[in-house]
Amino acid sequence: MKKILICNQKMYLTKDEAINLSYDYNTIDFSNVELIVCPNYLNFEFFSDYDLGAQNCFYEDKGAYTGEISPYDLYLRGIKYVILGHYERRKYDTNEIINLKVKACVRNSIIPIICIGESKIDRELLKTSSVLKKQITTALSGVDLSDGYPVLIAYEPIYKIGSSNPLAKEEIEDTFKYIKKVLDDMKISNYKILYGGSVKSENIKDILSDEIDGYLVGASCTSASELNNIVKCIK
Ligand code: PGA
Repeated sequence: MKKILICNQKMYLTKDEAINLSYDYNTIDFSNVELIVCPNYLNFEFFSDYDLGAQNCFYEDKGAYTGEISPYDLYLRGIKYVILGHYERRKYDTNEIINLKVKACVRNSIIPIICIGESKIDRELLKTSSVLKKQITTALSGVDLSDGYPVLIAYEPIYKIGSSNPLAKEEIEDTFKYIKKVLDDMKISNYKILYGGSVKSENIKDILSDEIDGYLVGASCTSASELNNIVKCIK
């Protein structure tokens, strides 16, 4: 099974930078990974050779919602995935809003990439399990996945996003066991669990594991050489 590699370009790139990066992506051999590129909305067109994900969407399909992006329109434009609940958006979106957005994605045949993660204090106070359980169960509450509809869970400890090192492999694996249990208890069958947070070429070897279905990469995906080295390590 190939590892999934999600490139979350965040708001890092202007138009010209995105165009240049797209040329560089074309020189990378991505054949050993399942690549999902998540540019900002304005830069989708430059990465149309790849499976595309949006970094957010609204929970209604159409209407008087100034400044929002419709999941229905994303679907019509061939966008296959949407990242939801990323930590950098959780100050705007509650677990309940994320749940509405997950439902909107599934309603529109888009695969949700649901980001979850605890804070450093949560981990120190041994609250990781309860925080993750709440995030997962609320995000997926009332979402009918009984027919095997796919869902991706990206586990991103908050304090590891944009930091110098990822979480230690053993801690990732332990946490994944718990996430799997929560999903299994909810009778969700078609899921993949990814790790995100400071994944870089210099550390990817340390966090390769059969237990990890893939990686969500932020800053490193905006450098073609970094990304190329990460891809080469994921075999
Ligand atoms: P990072 O970002 O790889 O720059 O830590 C990951 C993320 O926020 O999705």
